[in-house]
Amino acid sequence: MVIARTIEGLQEAKQKFSGSIGFVPTMGALHQGHLSLIQHARRENEHLIVSIFVNPTQFLEGEDLDSYPRKDEADIKICELAKVDILFMPSIDAMYETDELRIGAPAIRGYVLEGEKRPGHFDGMLQVVMKLLNLSGADNAYFGKKDAQQLALITQMVKNYFMDVNIVPCEIVRDERGLALSSRNVYLEGDEKERALCLSASLKKATQMVLAKELDAETIKKAMLEVLKDADQVEYIAIVNREFKALKKVEIGNTIILVAAWVGKPRLIDNLWI
Ligand code: PAF
Repeated sequence: MVIARTIEGLQEAKQKFSGSIGFVPTMGALHQGHLSLIQHARRENEHLIVSIFVNPTQFLEGEDLDSYPRKDEADIKICELAKVDILFMPSIDAMYETDELRIGAPAIRGYVLEGEKRPGHFDGMLQVVMKLLNLSGADNAYFGKKDAQQLALITQMVKNYFMDVNIVPCEIVRDERGLALSSRNVYLEGDEKERALCLSASLKKATQMVLAKELDAETIKKAMLEVLKDADQVEYIAIVNREFKALKKVEIGNTIILVAAWVGKPRLIDNLWI
């Protein structure tokens, strides 16, 4: 495995490639969820690039940029074992200049739910993903469905900018009790680990209701809120179509149910694709 810390180092290592390139962008602190993306990409491509870059432009003022978990040594080992060909770990200076050209999230889809709670987050996320996709030269890039709105916006960016890369959505990975894996789960302390389970439990409740043919969005949201009482604060429960437009009734095959809530220090998100 080549560890490239500069753009030139990445370009040089890529010169040896002769077939399809799979790419998994991450912010490090790799867990089983990342590993499943990496393994998925490994299976489907001749060459595999993973990036680790804690992207400052997608953190808002007061968010956890400085304390975001960093585990470079363990991450390098994980990538080696997963047979990554190039691990790209650039510095902030390598990725950004001071007076940057900006791309922005779309005015509607980019500013609801996560975009409303974290205004500007998706602008920074799209900016870095555009750079990373261009640098990697990926044929296929792998993103988790857990960040459903991120995935939808990246797919839209690729379409709107006619980018020549295939975005591959990957299933959410959960621990044995149902908690969706996230690098921020390390912040959970004491009983918060138990209480955090209410997010996936609320989605399980929604599934049961849909299976019992209850499709009314308000009724489902009310029942989910009841299950979410173990969270410290529920930020939103949303039932939207794949375009992120709010739905009055669940449409089987075209619905995402999303939840965001604070449990102790971390703000957690989870969702269900129906
Ligand atoms: O999902 C993430 O880890 C980040 O948002 C991404 C896609 C690596 C961009 O910084």
